[in-house]
Amino acid sequence: MRYVIVTSRCPVSHDRSGGRETLRRNVGGVVTALHQAMKVHGGVWICWGDGNADMNYPVEEYEGYTVARIFLNRNEKHGFYDEYSNGTLWPLFHYFRERVRYVEDSFETYSAVNRKFAEAVAKNTDNDSVIWVHDYQLSLVPGFVRKLGIANFIIFTWHIPWVSSEFFNILPQAKEIVDSITQADMITFHTELYRKNFRESCERLSQPDFNVDDRTSAYSLGIDSDYYSRVEEPVNPLETLQKNGRVIFSIDRLDYTKGLINRALSVERVLKKYPDTRGRFHYVMMVTPSRTSVSEYIRMKRDLEMEIGRINGSHGDIKWQPIIYMYSKVSDRVLLSYYRYADIALITPLMDGLNLVSKEFVAASGNGILILSEFAGAAFNLPQALIVNPNDINAMADTIYTAMNMSAGEIERRLEAMKTSVTRRNLKWWIEAIEKRAHTLMANRKAINAT
Ligand code: G6P
Repeated sequence: MRYVIVTSRCPVSHDRSGGRETLRRNVGGVVTALHQAMKVHGGVWICWGDGNADMNYPVEEYEGYTVARIFLNRNEKHGFYDEYSNGTLWPLFHYFRERVRYVEDSFETYSAVNRKFAEAVAKNTDNDSVIWVHDYQLSLVPGFVRKLGIANFIIFTWHIPWVSSEFFNILPQAKEIVDSITQADMITFHTELYRKNFRESCERLSQPDFNVDDRTSAYSLGIDSDYYSRVEEPVNPLETLQKNGRVIFSIDRLDYTKGLINRALSVERVLKKYPDTRGRFHYVMMVTPSRTSVSEYIRMKRDLEMEIGRINGSHGDIKWQPIIYMYSKVSDRVLLSYYRYADIALITPLMDGLNLVSKEFVAASGNGILILSEFAGAAFNLPQALIVNPNDINAMADTIYTAMNMSAGEIERRLEAMKTSVTRRNLKWWIEAIEKRAHTLMANRKAINAT
């Protein structure tokens, strides 16, 4: 068996600047997981070559498999990525109804780009291939692949929440999307809730031949827990700050789903409600640039920075600022050292398919406390975290205060339990669980075809 993997992002990109070319490895959780699977089975990875020097590498051999790049012109990129994927589907699947944009032509462009991906799949598929398609940017790929006459086994993995069926039906193209995804033989989600919502969407959009029970599963993506727990990071970047007291830490892509403003407001509420905390903690908020070509994201940055400025201006002084804000990309190494030494991780998205940061923090942390939103898929895996509703600023402030005063014994007990589950259900477990299920379904399919 070999894979034909299809994702929007590539495992590796080529950039050129100042006359020099550099290779950029994508270190996101999903790509890391698929990279492991590809190293074992080999095959072809089809993805969008968005690096400015990728054009020189339409097909490339990389660590035991082939990367085959799709190129998009400006209009294709805009309609496919900025408008339909991130202006329509992303807010819809995170329950942000008022942000969903309905731009007439963008679905057509999205559809044409998905077709391009499907054509590349057809070109690279042989008898021995299992096709594995990923995420909301590529929802029409299974349907197009079938239309091109390819009968191979298809796995489709949906990485973001699947919303309730009545909410999903807001989307004018709801039926087209479900019709395509159900062309896959196996569909996986990160939680049972998303799987249940999908089942209801299938029922509502009447998919009589699709056996949802058999063909859908929920496996929550794990991390390479060995990597995060093994690293001994001798330098504590937070040491100076910790002289004042506890350090609260977070890292997120700059995205409205992450609840960054509510989080800053909850830190302000701590100061108002518990004045004894003034000068006795820092909140280090790391934010990485994301989707900077989408207008919503540009506005959001301004709003967040104004709020942080206001909070620091109102509550800080020449010696102490409650929020230390950083907006930049961060290396793995630096991130690991923050995970290792932070006292509290504050991960409070308004809605998040999974949230791997919470798992990474747990694996790397020395003796940290995790405060986690109930609306992150990972909350189902980490019940020993302090679970909060990110819309309840007051309760979040109380939880932060509780964390600041938690006994060493309780911190250790909770962290150990979470470390155990992150290690048990790690990246390897996730890949093996999906492969095992796929093999069962493939064997069933063979048996049916043989009769
Ligand atoms: C989420 C999505 C991924 C996406 C990532 C980064 O995790 O589920 O499919 O790749 O965000 O977003 P970007 O738009 O930069 O690919």
